[in-house]
Amino acid sequence: MTTNRTAERVRSFGTSIFAEISALAVRHGAVNLGQGFPDFAGPAWVKDAAIESIAADLNQYAPYLGLPRLREAIAATWRAHGWREVDPASEVTVTSGATEAIFGAVQALINPGDEVIIFEPFYDAYVPDVVMAGGVPRYVRLYPPSALSPQLSAFTWHFDPAELAAAFSPRTRLLLLNTPNNPTGKVFSPAELAQIAELCIQHDVVVVADEVYDQLVFAPSVHTPIATLPGMWERTLTINSTGKTFSLTGWKIGYAVGPADLTAALRAAHQWITFATSTPLQAAAAVALERAVDGDYYAELRAEYAERRDLLAEVLAGAGFPTLPVEGSYFMMADISHAGFANDADFCRWLTCEVGVAAIPPSAFYADTHDLPLLARFCFAKKHETLRAAAERLAAVGRSWRR
Ligand SMILES: Cc1ncc(COP(=O)(O)O)c(C=O)c1O
Repeated sequence: MTTNRTAERVRSFGTSIFAEISALAVRHGAVNLGQGFPDFAGPAWVKDAAIESIAADLNQYAPYLGLPRLREAIAATWRAHGWREVDPASEVTVTSGATEAIFGAVQALINPGDEVIIFEPFYDAYVPDVVMAGGVPRYVRLYPPSALSPQLSAFTWHFDPAELAAAFSPRTRLLLLNTPNNPTGKVFSPAELAQIAELCIQHDVVVVADEVYDQLVFAPSVHTPIATLPGMWERTLTINSTGKTFSLTGWKIGYAVGPADLTAALRAAHQWITFATSTPLQAAAAVALERAVDGDYYAELRAEYAERRDLLAEVLAGAGFPTLPVEGSYFMMADISHAGFANDADFCRWLTCEVGVAAIPPSAFYADTHDLPLLARFCFAKKHETLRAAAERLAAVGRSWRR
């Protein structure tokens, strides 16, 4: 018998449906609307800033907290949005993407056996992060809009407040919140955030708020950082990433903002995880944040994404897959319940192989896969030409259904 040398903390992870769909997409030459990143370039002026930083020899280790200029730009961004005056010295930390900030925060804030509340469907890294820290995830369902769950009258994804309250126990230490949300496109409303905040205060629970899509929110929805609610600053670490906002996901420049004690805990973990993050890319990220906050960058970004969102919604609806409202993020859920598949994974395999358009089955974002709505997740961070290529292939599906 061969020994299993894989440590228990990672043994359950395996390979994901993302890897399978990506491999199928390559094999079948599918238009890939599964992968959650832009297929277009980030702004030239940000890329130029990186090139200039390398040429100027900003090439040695950065301070482990992050370059002072970038931490100041992050504080200036919080000020410009009217969220809060934050101290770049003690309340801001630069990390290797939001991924490292979330991993580090969970490592820094829970002990083995502690419970962590996670809304499902969830961003896929949350559960492994909690498991690797020895924590126990407690799930709270987000239910789809009323069209898909007629017993509940709501127009957006929503949770049941009683189910949320019941998820708290004396062992709860952390709640992981993602707004705007991947994969649902939900933006938590101020009223929902207030309910979450009240319970976290009552049970003395810290919130790790993953707000990487904070600039990708479509009117009339508005993003409210939970850290700005009364009593929440002192118990929230807010995580962000320049990858999403500047279409430069490969740079992996993320950051965390929070009160000095939570920041110190995160930094204690961060110094032994990656220690420091790419110096020239941090310098360029500082330029990006400084210029974006002074100009029209964010408004233009939102307008471009709103166009892509509307185009994809029209294409999917035309093919017989009505879409759910997208309040924020660059993901869209389509209703596939009339397509005749027993589950979303089979549908996405079929769509990738037979139609030539790759999408992700949302069951990958649930721990409990009973009673799931039949949906598929599409990413609209794609060039118009990519979306049009998908449209041509999906039009054939629409035609075959109408025959
Ligand atoms: C909700 C959410 N959080 C975090 C990340 C990871 O961000 P980063 O690339 O900065 O590590 C992603 C990327 O898809 C995401 O969707």
